[in-house]
Amino acid sequence: MPTALVTGATAGIGRAYSRRLAAEGHDMVLVARDAERLEELADRLQTRHNVRVEVLAADLSDAAQRAAVAKRLADPAKPVDVLINNAGFGTNGAFWDLTPDVLQRQLDVNVAAVLELTHAAVGAMRERGRGDVVNVASVAGFFTVSGSTYAATKAYVIALSEGLATSLTGTGVRVMALCPGFTQTEFHERAGLEMSKLPRAFWLQADQVVHESLADLRAGKPVSVPGAQYKALVAVGRLLPKKLQRMVVTRTVPGRT
Ligand SMILES: NC(=O)c1ccc[n+]([C@@H]2O[C@H](COP(=O)([O-])OP(=O)(O)OC[C@H]3O[C@@H](n4cnc5c(N)ncnc54)[C@H](OP(=O)(O)O)[C@@H]3O)[C@@H](O)[C@H]2O)c1
Repeated sequence: MPTALVTGATAGIGRAYSRRLAAEGHDMVLVARDAERLEELADRLQTRHNVRVEVLAADLSDAAQRAAVAKRLADPAKPVDVLINNAGFGTNGAFWDLTPDVLQRQLDVNVAAVLELTHAAVGAMRERGRGDVVNVASVAGFFTVSGSTYAATKAYVIALSEGLATSLTGTGVRVMALCPGFTQTEFHERAGLEMSKLPRAFWLQADQVVHESLADLRAGKPVSVPGAQYKALVAVGRLLPKKLQRMVVTRTVPGRT
């Protein structure tokens, strides 16, 4: 049976990936900080889908704990076929009001973890001549125009993944950046973002995001933007001059630093 490792498996998009990949018959390695929620999900997946589930509780803002997950990914005795780098978080408030500690943790989880875990996985996958890596970025990563550290982390993830996808052509290893728009998860509440005014048409569901992303991955796309509304927004938005992008983003997007 193939094995998939999902970071941020306890909630939202990561939980939806874990359910879907287990339903497809993958043995699972579940990573996040909340060990109790991980164990609860592991029990559920084992019972429902008869797959093996390993729980690896780790805080990806901590270098030693990231290294432990990287070690698991590189273990030749227990190959990982699919890596979903999904854990991540946003913040709320002005850049100058946030502590350097919070901003560093955001960089560590949203960027350093993606870099280090992709590196560990791709090394092992290249040797085996197959493997898939999905790095969860965001539509925000295409529009780094609002002084945003969150968008900057996601721009890095898109650039890294697209570049790697090209470099790995012909090796059997696929890398894809997933760029969701607003998705109903715990993300906004955790970040303290008020979202009640967002029109319903902009909300995506985590299962839909996962479904479309896996179809795109298996079709060999280097970047996936789920939802017709976001495909249109990204296609049109990227053609706009930066000055106009800045105006639109400032007026429409709830403040993320
Ligand atoms: N929801 C959206 O609108 C949206 C849009 C675009 C992109 N995204 C991206 O999608 C990804 C998943 O977010 P989501 O919407 O599913 O959010 P979510 O419901 O808040 O889930 C976030 C997951 O990340 C884990 N996590 C957070 N900090 C962590 C840390 N330090 N170490 C290990 N795990 C950590 C959380 O688990 P624990 O608390 O148990 O550690 C949780 O499982 C993120 O990368 C986010 O930036 C979300």
